[in-house]
Amino acid sequence: MSAGRSEPSPVATADIGVVGMAVMGSNLARNLAHHGYTVAVYNRTRARTEEVVRDHGGEGRFVPAADVGSFVESLKRPRRIILMVKAGAATDATIQSVLPHLEAGDIVMDGGNSHFLDTIRREGELSARGLHFVGSGISGGEEGALTGPSIMPGGTAEAYASLGPMLETISAHVDGVPCCTHVGPDGAGHFVKMVHNGIEYADMQLIGESYDLLRRGLGASPAELADVFAQWNAGDLESFLIEITAEVLRHVDAGTGRPFVDVVLDRAGQKGTGKWTVQTALDLGVPVTGIAEATFARALSSQSTQREVAREVLPRDAEPWDVTDRDAFVTDVRQALYASKVVAYSQGFDEIAAASAEHGWDIDRGAMARIWRGGCIIRAQFLNRITEAYERDPGLTLLLADPYFADIVGRGLSAWRRVVAQAALHGVPTPAFASSLAYYDGLVTERSTAALIQGQRDLFGAHTYQRVDRPGVFHTLWTGDRTEIELA
Ligand code: 6PG
Repeated sequence: MSAGRSEPSPVATADIGVVGMAVMGSNLARNLAHHGYTVAVYNRTRARTEEVVRDHGGEGRFVPAADVGSFVESLKRPRRIILMVKAGAATDATIQSVLPHLEAGDIVMDGGNSHFLDTIRREGELSARGLHFVGSGISGGEEGALTGPSIMPGGTAEAYASLGPMLETISAHVDGVPCCTHVGPDGAGHFVKMVHNGIEYADMQLIGESYDLLRRGLGASPAELADVFAQWNAGDLESFLIEITAEVLRHVDAGTGRPFVDVVLDRAGQKGTGKWTVQTALDLGVPVTGIAEATFARALSSQSTQREVAREVLPRDAEPWDVTDRDAFVTDVRQALYASKVVAYSQGFDEIAAASAEHGWDIDRGAMARIWRGGCIIRAQFLNRITEAYERDPGLTLLLADPYFADIVGRGLSAWRRVVAQAALHGVPTPAFASSLAYYDGLVTERSTAALIQGQRDLFGAHTYQRVDRPGVFHTLWTGDRTEIELA
């Protein structure tokens, strides 16, 4: 079947090809076929390709390939290839396997959760060979890949002109608008997907904290709390994650008859995108405290040995909790959740802005919120408000300071403080709520503690400081007569 063998070369009939027939890859291939595209499909293990075509071949036009050579040969030129393989070494190996069969102008898209720095490197390597490399975020899980994900492609404008229309067609649509747009050059798409996942972590942690507060404060059952979340889902907080929270809380374990949430081990892992978001933010000097706390909360949850020792040894001095005005408390938690969520998004968009400036990506943040409105895990009504904020002011310095969000947060401020204070008094861990509020207070404070820190740094390390009353760089002779010298 492949070039160089005795079998005749297949006719190039496929509009696009997908490599990797695990669930995400096969669902994406099916989605493309459902939209009328002829899709070449290839998997390292041939049996899997055959299985997909056997089970789903009737859904559209598939061209199964037994080897990489015939897979590439079956594609119309320029070839458009989507890799849906594991991020990391497997992606590099797959790229290497298709490379010898490609021609200048062909397009290779990586639809996995790759690190954006790998994408920048791969884009450099492939563009040096006259090929296009598109690192693209795809969000929505297995279901989204099949029925319409949110797609965040990077790469050149030329590659997008060829691939973009197909991606837009298969993406989710909200109000007739596709949840896919060209994010920016090289690693921009994977960067934005990474931050999407970081925000996803924060969103999930905040919802988790809300659940914990309500359960402990009200002594409510998971089923009762499912009703609360379902109700919230009918308002400002409407989102996929709130919706599925209600579903999970309502679920009863068939084996024990107990609430499902009570039979699941309370240890959360991660595949790494949340961690990358925080690591990158540290490099960029952008505080993403909500995402960081969410990531650390997962780490703490998995420290079973430390938790066990702590539970045995450490005192718990929490006051007994008896919430009297239950409705008011539920409203407080809802407002605190909304305010903390705005902070997490504001921080995430700050990280996108910083990376965009550093890498020259020119990312349109309003467009990112627009393509997150449908298909992806963080899809939510509230993303419309973010798009509107960036439409009002494309250069917006701080999402929180947009009049709409400033108003939301302002109105929820006392509720937010009450919730964090009550949580502290009653020993309920709320790292994401509390750190978001601390970030807010840090932003609005007149004088930060950094003045004192600058003094300490100058005393022990002659690190110098600047003054509020005149320009220049100064150092005090701390061990001498404490006179101040001007250095520049
Ligand atoms: C998506 C999800 C998806 C996934 C991640 C995060 O957008 O469809 O973000 O990429 O859920 O793998 O999972 P972890 O929680 O395991 O890091």
